[in-house]
Amino acid sequence: MRREIRVFDSGAELVETLANVCQHWVDEAVAARGIAHLVLAGGRTPVGLYRELRSRALPWASLEVYFGDERCVPADDPESNYRAAREALLGHVSIPSGQIHRMHGEEGKLGAEAYGHCLPERFDITFLGMGEDGHTASLFPNSRALQSDQRVVFVDNSPKPPAERITLGLSALNASRRAVFMVTGSSKADALARVGKEGSILPASRVAPTDGTVSFFVDREAAANLPRRES
Ligand code: 6PG
Repeated sequence: MRREIRVFDSGAELVETLANVCQHWVDEAVAARGIAHLVLAGGRTPVGLYRELRSRALPWASLEVYFGDERCVPADDPESNYRAAREALLGHVSIPSGQIHRMHGEEGKLGAEAYGHCLPERFDITFLGMGEDGHTASLFPNSRALQSDQRVVFVDNSPKPPAERITLGLSALNASRRAVFMVTGSSKADALARVGKEGSILPASRVAPTDGTVSFFVDREAAANLPRRES
């Protein structure tokens, strides 16, 4: 596994650069395999990237889009990760609807079981956020979901509301060619420093694709507690 961290002076610079490299990675995947399998992150941080991507000339018809996690709410609920992605990106670009694989959070455990059937063997790019406790997707520290070997897991005790969620498990996340964390803001600085430490068992540290790359795109505030050479 290759690991890199890139620190940016602002969120805008981070988004601009990440959109550029994302376009390159997608073009590479489509050139190599005729398709690019992308996993979208939930939460607020990636929304700026999604808005930036909609103005880029990506080969939209050659993309298959999945979700890293979803809250167990209806698709039009303000808490829905799908709704956030649809409003920021998916509703503005020409990805064929059959290639957007929504996690049916409203179906709870049954939705989690069904989602496992739509996943490819590997993802080309998996976007992820990270919480202040080092969680990622809906994999929280010391959780059963983190220990599961299932590719899709139903969570009923998320410490971050709402409690019920569907999440990709580590085995699915670690089937990514590229896992890309977007981490911004001072509230994430402690967790980011811990995640980078040798032997860390935090969920974000466990995303380690054996033959893939893990990239952290972070701003200066989130990087504040990193060792000098990385910040
Ligand atoms: C979710 C996300 C979650 C998120 C982190 C960071 O559904 O809540 O998947 O893992 O990425 O909590 O959230 P922010 O980007 O909003 O800080």
